[in-house]
Amino acid sequence: MCPYGLYAEQLNGTAFTVPRDQNRRSWLYRILPAVLHHPFKELKEGNMTANFEATKPNPSQLRWHPFNIPKKTEASVDFLQGLNTLCGAGEAKGRHGMAVHVYTCNTSMTDRAFYNSDGDFLIVPQQGALFITTEFGKLKVEPLEICVIQQGMRFTVAVNEECRGYVLEVYDCHFRLPDLGPIGANGLANPRDFKIPKAWYEDREVKGYQIINKYQGALFVAEQDHSPYDVVAWHGNYTPYKYNLTNFMVINSVSYDHADPSIFTVLTCPSGKPGVAIADFVIFPPRWGVAEHTFRPPYYHRNIMSEFMGLIRGHYEAKPEGFQPGGATLHSMMTPHGPDTNCFEKNSSGKLEPERIAEGTMAFMFETCLGLAVTEWGETSCEKLDHAYYKCWQSLKKHFNPNAKPQ
Ligand SMILES: [Fe+2]
Repeated sequence: MCPYGLYAEQLNGTAFTVPRDQNRRSWLYRILPAVLHHPFKELKEGNMTANFEATKPNPSQLRWHPFNIPKKTEASVDFLQGLNTLCGAGEAKGRHGMAVHVYTCNTSMTDRAFYNSDGDFLIVPQQGALFITTEFGKLKVEPLEICVIQQGMRFTVAVNEECRGYVLEVYDCHFRLPDLGPIGANGLANPRDFKIPKAWYEDREVKGYQIINKYQGALFVAEQDHSPYDVVAWHGNYTPYKYNLTNFMVINSVSYDHADPSIFTVLTCPSGKPGVAIADFVIFPPRWGVAEHTFRPPYYHRNIMSEFMGLIRGHYEAKPEGFQPGGATLHSMMTPHGPDTNCFEKNSSGKLEPERIAEGTMAFMFETCLGLAVTEWGETSCEKLDHAYYKCWQSLKKHFNPNAKPQ
């Protein structure tokens, strides 16, 4: 037995034998060990899935209007009940793939905790603060911040208002900071800006406290008679963490040309192939645009990666209209996309002065090497798919003039 009569329990996030610099584990010193609960039973709740095989492929450019947040006067929905899988790939059992979920909720989780056996959650609040209690302590996560709750960590989300946001789930491995290469030792997201919780505990007996587990894509519930937040102390390097996106140091062109969006990578979940990500979390923060002889917005492109985008606030520079905070877009691998007609015309003429780009805006992208399948909820039952999205490019005109003088 440990000092103060505590039990010691290890939570590991890597195999015991991975190289030392990659090894992740924490020791939890708790009033009762996590093993003390009744058997798991299946739980039908929420709308999460890890089954992407039965879904009909859809290569179109897709855009969603802001997802509906249920009114508290109509229905009480907590974070877990309000999680809906929008798209994904791979499968949880083989630990390969990823999923994008959207959450909308208006009520705190009460006497229930959730943990995910399938992978890590990167949570991006878009509206409303999340008050997250974890086995490691408490995290308040507001819009413009993100948090990562890693595989196996129990957590409970409390809210004071109607909330909406996005979740990137990865099955393969944990998120890490991208290498900086020639950028050097400083830049992008700096390690010192990531915050981890301090231990917090309660010694509370509760009849029928629910421990909810996502395992192989399905939900299960087990009951126990005490709060799981009884970790009095912990040490280790496997923890939940949060990051304020406004701390991101933006790198960009100061001469000419539009740099690739990989320069905005906050966190990456690498695949086994060098430079190829299962998922990158990328942001488009406020910054200066100073490039000369350049079309500054994103260029037209067809990408070998799939690109899911969300908007936390403001107006995304390539689509000032139509793409709204709380909405989303998906441009699948090799599906062409780029600026809408207005954006192209406006940015193809006029003097290129230094200017602030994306002031008051924070857009983000989940970029993956996998081909994403859109769920039935995403295609139909969320009722937010914008069937007119393609029209934003239909008025693009020919400007070709074979007799024009070279500039
Ligand atoms: Fe793109």
